[in-house]
Amino acid sequence: MKNLLYLLLLFSLIGCQFKASEMGGSVHSPDEKIILAFALDEQGRPTYQVDFRPEAKSHAIPIVLPSTLSFSFTDQPDLEEGLTIASTDNTIHKSQWEMPWGEQRTVLNRYNEQAYLLKESEEPHRQVQLRFRAFDDGVAFRYEFLEQEGVDSVRIAEELTQFRWAGDHTAWWIPGDWDIYEHLYSTTSISEIDATSKRDHPSLGQTYIPHNAVNTPVTLRTQEGIHISLHEANLTDYAGMTLGVDPDELSFESILVGTERREAKVVRALPFNTPWRTIQISQDVAGLIASKMILNLNEPNQLEDVSWFKPTKYLGIWWGMHLGTESWDMASGKHGATTENAKRYVDFAAENGIGALLVEGWNTGWEHWIGFEDREGVFDFVTPYEDYDLEEVVRYGKERGVELIMHHETSAAPRTYDQQLDTAFSLMEELGIHAVKTGYVGKIIPKGEYHHGQWMVNHYRRVLLEAAKHNVAVNAHEPIKATGLRRTYPNTIAREGLRGQEFNAWSSDGGNPPEHLSIVAFTRMLAGPIDCTPGVFDIKLSKRYPNGVQPGQVRNQVNTTLAHQLALYVVIYSPIQMACDLPEHYEGQPAFQFIRDVGVDWEQSIVLNGEMGDYVTIAREERVTGNWFVGGITDEEARDVEIDFSFISEGKTYHGILYRDGSDAHWDEKPTSISIDMMEVSSESRLKINLAPGGGFAMSLKGN
Ligand code: NOJ
Ligand code: CA
Repeated sequence: MKNLLYLLLLFSLIGCQFKASEMGGSVHSPDEKIILAFALDEQGRPTYQVDFRPEAKSHAIPIVLPSTLSFSFTDQPDLEEGLTIASTDNTIHKSQWEMPWGEQRTVLNRYNEQAYLLKESEEPHRQVQLRFRAFDDGVAFRYEFLEQEGVDSVRIAEELTQFRWAGDHTAWWIPGDWDIYEHLYSTTSISEIDATSKRDHPSLGQTYIPHNAVNTPVTLRTQEGIHISLHEANLTDYAGMTLGVDPDELSFESILVGTERREAKVVRALPFNTPWRTIQISQDVAGLIASKMILNLNEPNQLEDVSWFKPTKYLGIWWGMHLGTESWDMASGKHGATTENAKRYVDFAAENGIGALLVEGWNTGWEHWIGFEDREGVFDFVTPYEDYDLEEVVRYGKERGVELIMHHETSAAPRTYDQQLDTAFSLMEELGIHAVKTGYVGKIIPKGEYHHGQWMVNHYRRVLLEAAKHNVAVNAHEPIKATGLRRTYPNTIAREGLRGQEFNAWSSDGGNPPEHLSIVAFTRMLAGPIDCTPGVFDIKLSKRYPNGVQPGQVRNQVNTTLAHQLALYVVIYSPIQMACDLPEHYEGQPAFQFIRDVGVDWEQSIVLNGEMGDYVTIAREERVTGNWFVGGITDEEARDVEIDFSFISEGKTYHGILYRDGSDAHWDEKPTSISIDMMEVSSESRLKINLAPGGGFAMSLKGN
């Protein structure tokens, strides 16, 4: 009763736009800044709205205007209206959990929850439960399809979850591609989102953008400067969600990724829950990065001890393939994955304290992948090329403290991979290899499926669970988006799922612009760890153009400074971080010391400053050593950032090494100009650092 009175009071206080005659209620975040109200309108349609108070007692600003929630099915009438509230349930939750590896050790999980059991007033009296959670960093809700008499499954034609915006906010978005997330971000107002203009990028192996829709995370900024990011959490046995854009109404509505092989986008046996629909809200943009809401909406660790996976830096027989100096296949005569080459990489890794080595192109089949239709059965994941002695490389690495990262490129033939999961992972287990990079380049076989549909979501999950049985951690490329599952299955270590470094080597548009990662930090990174493969030192890619740029050839390069590349080890989070350039490009380079030193597993992380799409600085404290590392990047604009070191423990001094852009540095004109300074740093220290256009800085702070 007390709860009900309280809710009624709150409901009247927030100046709700729902009419008094309607049924509903509201739930607010523990800090009372975010208020989510739910109601059934006069037609009995479920409707929610979200308001935000920048300060505890300030006026509430509408974030999501009253928006409807409904479903259409292929085998039954829409579930849209004529609903009544059968019961309501309120819960208050506060707990803490520990990340086995992560951006921080402990995570606070605190929210207020309200669940509504909705029932159709007329035949067939279907029921659905809506569960809302309000956290200090955002709100989330999901649909719970309950058991129904006489119905054992549902066939969902479309989920129709609306997000109506209170203004024409600025949006940072990639198109709602059903097959790939490897697009550049656009910065436009909501009314100017034009996703279909991104169709058919010539450098994409697969792409399908059927609607004017965006993929998530998509981040918005209101005129008042409030930051909002939309995504989903715990995507399980369901289709990935894109958000259809109505540029006139300034609203988004979910469009699930479909399949050409059946009418329904999702088929599920009852009961089941949909993924959470998440709306992260923060006054300052730093709050979006700090938010752990997506993780909190996932179930606790089901694998228990995953200490067999150790966060690590790694080298790869990889960049050479993208530069074109080496190849995956053997027939070309420039095969990269030879025993000899792998040993050279192992030696370099061991000399520099790098714990792992990825070897791509080690298994047979690469003569017949991209460009071939019949890719089923081509790769087998256990048969090395004749010039690569897998066991010998494993042995040689282990002797020197360097573990292999296995590579399984499926060329988007997941059924072939499915059939071999057990064999492939058993081989890894036998050899003591604990991580695999998977890949799904190309259009999915069978034809008609897309990378982000329910069928593939289930494939990616099977791989993860099968890998876990063999103590194998997964770094997926061309993946399904991260939705916080690393909490439940911490063998989900990283993934690509963005336009990565490789585009700088060969993309027909010249690569990723200098602003790319200053946007990624506030969009894609909110979903989870990124295998962003930083660390290119030969920024101008000299090996790609041994005879200069040829007529008709695009002049590719990495469009950042060297200091920016170093900063990425701190700014972009992943428990595995590649030093992606060729070893010979690191030899004799003083700046490589930062890569040797930088940590990969963190006690805590602090976003020191940043502006959406412009710049960002993050400080992270390494677990075990207590050393701090700071990284900052900027877009194409030069700028000064002020670092206030009050985040480090009082009374302690640290030996700092600062790697910053040289005074003449510029991402295009002078990308490798860098200056390296040593200094003593305490919590009293303040530093002004100039970032060049496309530049950055990195700093290591070792305790004295
Ligand atoms: C695409 C991946 O993103 C890249 O890292 C990999 O080298 C190729 N596929 C080959 O698997
Ligand atoms: Ca890729």
